[in-house]
Amino acid sequence: MKKVYALLLVVICLLTMSISGCGEQTVNKNESKLKIGVTVYDQYDTFMGQLVDCFLAFQSENVEIAVYNAAQSQQTQNAQVKKMIEDDMDIICVNLVDRTDPTAVIDAARKNDVPVIFFNRELVEGDMGRWDKLFYVGADAEQSGVMEGELAAWACITQKEDIDKNGDGVIQYVVLEGEAGHQDAIIRTEASVNTLKKQGVEIDKLGYAIANWNRAQAQTKAAQFIEDYGDDIELVLSNNDDMALGAIDAYEAKAVPRNKWPAIFGIDGTNVGLEAVRDDKMLGTVYNDKEGQASAMFELASVLARGGSIDELSDRYTVENGRYIRLPYEKVTSSNIIKYLSR
Ligand code: GAL
Ligand code: CA
Repeated sequence: MKKVYALLLVVICLLTMSISGCGEQTVNKNESKLKIGVTVYDQYDTFMGQLVDCFLAFQSENVEIAVYNAAQSQQTQNAQVKKMIEDDMDIICVNLVDRTDPTAVIDAARKNDVPVIFFNRELVEGDMGRWDKLFYVGADAEQSGVMEGELAAWACITQKEDIDKNGDGVIQYVVLEGEAGHQDAIIRTEASVNTLKKQGVEIDKLGYAIANWNRAQAQTKAAQFIEDYGDDIELVLSNNDDMALGAIDAYEAKAVPRNKWPAIFGIDGTNVGLEAVRDDKMLGTVYNDKEGQASAMFELASVLARGGSIDELSDRYTVENGRYIRLPYEKVTSSNIIKYLSR
């Protein structure tokens, strides 16, 4: 009788196993679903917000994307990375708060063998060398500065009478800079100023101010410039569109007539930036290819998650040193603005 019971028990267990999967090896939940975790240095940064929106467009039945806002705290970001690892993310995309302090992120990812795609805020090469599953997607900061300088030089040469308001043959300018220590601030400023000089435009710096990519901060700094230098300002070189818009806000708030404004240039081609070019408030901007960067990040994440190599993307992107993908910038003025407004 005992034997019969034992047999019955085995049969019942086998039956329940086939129905409920009891006793089966746990299937990797992620096998059918790609899980990507993203942490952004500051979600309220206009360009980053738009880049994240582009990335979220890749969400689907088979792709889960979890986005975290580090709110300008590296400590918060480190905790978010830990959480994403606990949540079984296949790939982690990190827009570092402090680009000189990626140690905690790298150590946690490495310990748990989760590849990391850093983006937009470039870490130093030495840190990239700390593990072979670290990658970077972004753009070439110098190229954006050169292009902004070329746009400004072209305007200063072709519209000399309008821009050189005091007619002294020299262009008096101010610079609005992004965060101190950010590759896109230091390098853009240097490259745009050097390009203007190289193109034969005589320039004279009146002042510069750090406004941390931020429109409101830039308005305050620009208002101070207007107090200090008034009509002497003939050119505003801004490291990004939001700060250029802050300068425009300052001129509008002071009710300075449009024909008295300096020539203003930005970088990014955010929606608001493009509108300012369309409305002839900003003479030009440099398109920071958020769509391209988001696609490259997604394609790289997909390849890495199934154990592939970044080289598989080399037909579509330029892959440098097996680690870096940089999307090219593009110059935007009123003559090609339509193409960008409809992107
Ligand atoms: C730059 C961009 C800025 C800001 C910054 C954040 O590439 O031009 O507007 O978003 O990244 O790291
Ligand atoms: Ca002048």
